Amino acid sequence: MLAERVLSGMRPIGRLHLGHYHGVLKDWTALQAEFPCFFLVADWHALTAGYEDTKRIGENVWEMVIDWLAAGVDPNQSTLFIQSRVPEHAELQLLLSMMTPRAWLERVPSYKEQVERPEHEDLDTFGFLGYPLLQSADILIYRSTRIPVGEDQLPHIELARELARRFNHLYGREPGYEERARSAVKKLGAKRGRHYDELRTRYQQEGDAEALAQARAVIDESQSLSLGDRERLYGYIEGGGKRILVEPSARLTPAARLPGLDGRKMSRSRGNTINLREDADTVARKLRTMVTDPARVRRDDPGDPGNCPVWPLHQIYSDAATQSWAQEGCRSAGIGCLECKQPLIDAVVAEQQMLSERAQPYVEDPSLVRNIVAEGCERARKLAQETLREVREAMGLDYS
Ligand code: TRP
Ligand code: SF4
Repeated sequence: MLAERVLSGMRPIGRLHLGHYHGVLKDWTALQAEFPCFFLVADWHALTAGYEDTKRIGENVWEMVIDWLAAGVDPNQSTLFIQSRVPEHAELQLLLSMMTPRAWLERVPSYKEQVERPEHEDLDTFGFLGYPLLQSADILIYRSTRIPVGEDQLPHIELARELARRFNHLYGREPGYEERARSAVKKLGAKRGRHYDELRTRYQQEGDAEALAQARAVIDESQSLSLGDRERLYGYIEGGGKRILVEPSARLTPAARLPGLDGRKMSRSRGNTINLREDADTVARKLRTMVTDPARVRRDDPGDPGNCPVWPLHQIYSDAATQSWAQEGCRSAGIGCLECKQPLIDAVVAEQQMLSERAQPYVEDPSLVRNIVAEGCERARKLAQETLREVREAMGLDYS
């Protein structure tokens, strides 16, 4: 198969918090050890909701990249880059827009919800309607296969899949496609070629997904094919044309069960966060005032960790012994809430120190971050330009 390629991104709209760290960022750092990863700063996407006040955008971009690096995103393994520095994304979005039915965008839930809100006027823009189309371009331009995202983003990935299919269907039929595909089958060798044809027939006649997977495996096993022939054979299984754009799959990011300081989900807009790289005093103050089981009004009221937003933090940060100490102490009123929180304060402070230490070289010398991102942009741009060359050619835009 086309090698796996991971792509994900975030909008630079403010500081990242522990919810990001224990959810998305840990997932990214695990993925980068396994696959080539591309992580993009979606600065254009930040403009869809924040076009009026753009003064802080640069600051937000660099702080976010430093947070990524502090969290362990490794520029030697991953490509970190900025959307607006690869203008090819915009060209692909434009070209895709020509063949995107407006209804496909209007039915995307994030758009529908905005429109249904009474105060939606300032988001009633072409840019906001096009948000998932730009995101599709981000994904398709790298022929990305795996897109780690949260649940709210799934419809956007689905749109990217539909667009890839539609594009290949419309433009994947180069002149002489059938003959070229047949001659690519020959290049598989007699035995493999026959096997491929059988699987292809089985898939086309019976819609057998197993046959589809096996036919793809036959292509993968064949070392000698050119990239073009490989793509022809991929498309040919399904009866379509050459596969120019690749259908990506969403991978749900494991959600961090991390409550905020007020007990609701930790989120920037609620102002209930512990951010990355906060100092020890701030962390201690925030955790000391964090809400607990409402039944524990007085020190000698027993509590129930199951009703306490502090407990999930123990599950992330504390070892088994500390956890059972907290459980028993809470239920018997043997410990007070401040006591219960102390090991968490220590653990979070230590974690923050680790993050700050990792960030320190980048904070002290911003040129390090600029260089990492400049290199990432260059690498990303090369790939984007390759895809776009094929897209233009498929659409007949490479005329002279
Ligand atoms: N829309 C995503 C978010 O708000 C950010 C994003 C932009 C993205 N482009 C992407 C995520 C491409 C995955 C792939 O979270
Ligand atoms: Fe929550 Fe701990 Fe207080 Fe129990 S003792 S209510 S678990 S903070």
